[in-house]
Amino acid sequence: MTLIVEKLKKSYREPDGKILRILDIPSFSVAQGEQMLLVGPSGCGKTTLLHVIAGISRPDSGVIRIDGVDVVRLSEAARDRFRAAKIGYVFQTFNLLPAFTALENVLLGMTFARNRRDRKRAGELLERVGLQHRRTHKPAALSVGEQQRVAVARALANRPSLILADEPTANVDRANQQHIVDLIRTTCREERVTLVMVTHAMEVAEQFERVDRLDVLNRVARTAPQAEEAEEAVA
Ligand SMILES: Nc1ncnc2c1ncn2[C@@H]1O[C@H](COP(=O)(O)OP(=O)(O)O)[C@@H](O)[C@H]1O
Ligand SMILES: [Mg+2]
Repeated sequence: MTLIVEKLKKSYREPDGKILRILDIPSFSVAQGEQMLLVGPSGCGKTTLLHVIAGISRPDSGVIRIDGVDVVRLSEAARDRFRAAKIGYVFQTFNLLPAFTALENVLLGMTFARNRRDRKRAGELLERVGLQHRRTHKPAALSVGEQQRVAVARALANRPSLILADEPTANVDRANQQHIVDLIRTTCREERVTLVMVTHAMEVAEQFERVDRLDVLNRVARTAPQAEEAEEAVA
């Protein structure tokens, strides 16, 4: 899966009607099977960018080509289907369903459309993340590191071609941080999945060959602090 982003702009309208510019990215691309880490300080638009790539929210303008399909131009229903079929998402806060076991949470990452929910694959994925002995545990009975490992297994459940990982180590203790990143990178490599991970934690960069700075890619982030300083100077 190749990802191409071009002339991407995203802004929010504030309650007073002012336009709040968040993203203005001329271009970047990620090749099939490549693993890209995007680093940048809190507030520079990392989550917004992943939401736009995943089709969770719409940009103002621009192109997001995933395997030749410009997802920006798809209808909302088609975008939801595309996301379900092609994209796995690892959330900073895991987003596991508390009433379900580890195995059931992984099964819930599979769509009905592809084939019947595949218990064998769900079990294999839990084994791959080292949790075969915890498959009947609900999230409250798992450590946070284990919960994030279940979330990684769930993101892979539907055989996506792209994984988007939003600060997957932010809520995990230090001992588990490197392990989670290794786990995501290794499983993506084994499954030939393209990976885009974002983080504000610079130490994660040591584990990646390709590291890009979102505050450099993004023209808004480069000018925003100056604007804030100017406002302070006036105030
Ligand atoms: N729904 C929204 N409405 C207005 N501003 C938002 C909204 N969501 C995020 N923002 C703002 O957009 C900026 C980027 O947010 P985000 O993408 O979450 O940053 P990051 O993930 O890099 O910390 C922040 O300044 C945030 O306050
Ligand atoms: Mg974020």
